[in-house]
Amino acid sequence: MMSRIINPGWFVFILILQVIAVTDTFSKSIARPEQGKNHFFTYCSGCHTLRYAGYKAVGTPPKEAERWFGKTPPDLSNVARVRGNDWLKSFLSGFYPDVHGKFGSNNHQFENVSMPNVLASITSTECREQVVDDIVAYLIDVAEPVRQLRRELGMYVVLFLALFVCGWFMFMRLSKR
Ligand code: HEC
Repeated sequence: MMSRIINPGWFVFILILQVIAVTDTFSKSIARPEQGKNHFFTYCSGCHTLRYAGYKAVGTPPKEAERWFGKTPPDLSNVARVRGNDWLKSFLSGFYPDVHGKFGSNNHQFENVSMPNVLASITSTECREQVVDDIVAYLIDVAEPVRQLRRELGMYVVLFLALFVCGWFMFMRLSKR
């Protein structure tokens, strides 16, 4: 009787969804994509576009940017998928002063990069690391819109599972009478 109601396949499916939901919720508590979005528009959108997220207008016209930096600042819609989480973090926190660098700085992750140290104005290392984490979280959301949806769905999955378990126990008790 019970095995017909609770199909093991469904149970495993729900369990997997829940694990994803919990890990996503956990990762959200460290990095905050909403703040990352604000930071992106403060520090990055002057040069970079996010075409897939629908922000075509922001960013310096490529021709002028090329004149200033020698390189066109690339569109960052996909960068989180191309470079990965760790690379981005090392890059954004990898700037160091270097008199031979183009803008008086250089980057451990990207030698002779044509991008200035745009987060240099944040003097506290702790604050800067938080800003980097937030921006990377935002860039991941932009590159993988499904993640955002999954996190929102995750809340409902947890709620559903709680109700499901309650209902199951009630059913068991009633059916024993
Ligand atoms: C003043 C202009 C400018 C600003 C502001 C700026 N960048 Fe850049 N960025 C560049 C340029 C130019 C390049 C190309 C560097 C090269 O290829 O040498 C670049 C490259 C990058 C790359 C490497 C992309 C790749 O895969 O090669 C990433 C990632 C990046 N920027 C992220 C950011 C983030 C995040 C911010 C905001 C915190 C930011 N940038 C702000 C000009 C800028």
